[in-house]
Amino acid sequence: MCGIVAYFGNKPAQPILIEGLKRLEYRGYDSAGIALLENGTFQVTKSPGRISNLEEMLAGRHSPATLGIGHTRWATHGRPNQVNAHPHVDCTGKIAVVHNGIIENYATLKKWLLKEGCTFLSETDTEVVANLIGYFYQRNQNRNGQLAPHGCNRFEWAVQQALSEIYGTYGLAILCADCPNVLIGAKKGSPLILGVGKNEFLIASDAAAIVKHTTQAIYLADGEMVIVDSGGFQTKTLSNEQVQKELKEIEISLDQIELEGFRHYMEKEIAEQPTALETCLNGRVDLKNGRIILGGISNYLRELTRAKRIILTACGTAWHAALVGEFLFEQLARIPAEVEYASEFRYRNPILEEGTVVIAISQSGETADTLAAVEQAKERGALVLGIVNVVGSSIARLTDAGVYLRVGPEIGVASTKAFTAQVAVLAMLAIELGRRRHLSTDTVQNLLQELTSIPQKIKRILRQSEAIRQIADANKDRENWLFLGRGFNYPVALEGALKLKEISYIHAEGLPAAEMKHGPIALITDKMPAVFIATRCSQYEKIIGNIEEVRARGGKTIVVATEGDEQIKPYADYLIPIPETCEPLQPMLTVVPLQMLAYHAAVLRGHDVDKPRNLAKSVTVE
Ligand code: M6R
Repeated sequence: MCGIVAYFGNKPAQPILIEGLKRLEYRGYDSAGIALLENGTFQVTKSPGRISNLEEMLAGRHSPATLGIGHTRWATHGRPNQVNAHPHVDCTGKIAVVHNGIIENYATLKKWLLKEGCTFLSETDTEVVANLIGYFYQRNQNRNGQLAPHGCNRFEWAVQQALSEIYGTYGLAILCADCPNVLIGAKKGSPLILGVGKNEFLIASDAAAIVKHTTQAIYLADGEMVIVDSGGFQTKTLSNEQVQKELKEIEISLDQIELEGFRHYMEKEIAEQPTALETCLNGRVDLKNGRIILGGISNYLRELTRAKRIILTACGTAWHAALVGEFLFEQLARIPAEVEYASEFRYRNPILEEGTVVIAISQSGETADTLAAVEQAKERGALVLGIVNVVGSSIARLTDAGVYLRVGPEIGVASTKAFTAQVAVLAMLAIELGRRRHLSTDTVQNLLQELTSIPQKIKRILRQSEAIRQIADANKDRENWLFLGRGFNYPVALEGALKLKEISYIHAEGLPAAEMKHGPIALITDKMPAVFIATRCSQYEKIIGNIEEVRARGGKTIVVATEGDEQIKPYADYLIPIPETCEPLQPMLTVVPLQMLAYHAAVLRGHDVDKPRNLAKSVTVE
């Protein structure tokens, strides 16, 4: 949540910060602001709403400042208005801060700072950080009587003193009005990266904001800070010990984060699925020898093959992929599996007996609840594996081992290509475990062949965009929808409902189709579209029965079915045919028309598809 960016170099900072903020806007878009350090004073400009509003405020102003910080906000503490927008400056005007995270003890600290004479303007937790640093910066000693250093070393010291008092999570970029040649970043629990260019440095929440300027970066770990000055940069722990960090090549390229002619990132990411999946599968499916090669977890395959239980934990769309994973592990590998919402798992005092393997799934690798679930599982001694997209993210680093999705940056808030790749990775894992445990060579060979054919089949589905748009158009004004599927397609029904909800603001419910008759059937009228996933599968006849139940009550049906299935036609008011594949791999196909349906419905309703209201791409708060 929230995106931060900071610039230190020899170019005007303002356009670089604005451009960086636009790249980070998917992280939050409640308000935006920048602070530039000009002749020893902060020039702060803030605006509620999108970066475009901030740009309008800045129109015609061309600051020469070469040092500055910027922020795009997803509101937690305080409404999304101008006063609560970042950057926040302390009451002495000396310290400016942008922050991503949550300061848990901010209320206590605020009370104390008020008593000490500090004044506050906003309702935010971040202003407490600015004032706390400002407080120590004005002192000659800390609470233990340790003397403060002089000059800009005092700025660094004040940051360390303040952060030692703070509980919570933060990615911070901090400026001091007296130190025009110093930029400080600090991290705990929220991502922070330092881009190292030629005579310039950028601090940001993620690489998207800096890749235009440099491909060399340092990923800070929790409890670390970076001090950039005219001599270069140094990395330290918050308790002032030097740390040597490795300079890494940023793995994303500029074209991956451009729209490239698409109207929205979601549209681009839906369309990218064939190539994204090819990259995900490439080098991992060994058709010749009938096996799967997943380098990242090869050292743990023995333990996994013997696992007594697999717990999959995730949030949102990744949780739906985990649910497909449960079916895959049970059906293909015959290993008992269960799925946990990360937010519940972390507080549930879970029992993790020997032989339990925990798999955390996350596109961003930064979701706070999933991260906490990983910590919880590790503390209890379980082997914890990750299925993550963002390379070097917190979950990727914290897990014992893992598999990357390799689908490139996913920027649209609604997750699409990450879901299909998560299912692809889970399928690869389940097939390989099945092969090691009991599956015949022929079965494995068939599954692998089918798996490699999925990208081409998705391409065929994508060609139906116009037909799906028309279905969306005919139903876009219906305010309640049902999504129904059985078996492997039950999680897809949940995912279809989530997609529609989050970007079209249409109420939608996803259900296992047979559950409908236990209550939700009461909702059926001719005003409520029911989307059925009724592909050829082991429960085909059963789901036809469920469709009949809806139609008997006047309900309208949108049916995703297998190409060439004539039997299904009379049951569908709207039919979306998709290519055939084996049942365990169907979710990678059946989800695609639902993504397209949601996308078109949102566009037709005039919504900002990539930035749905109240949401942000990565949820780094509880
Ligand atoms: O980055 P993660 O995969 O951990 O994110 C989990 C959810 O926040 C995410 O899938 C969310 O539900 C998406 N907006 C769904 O489209």
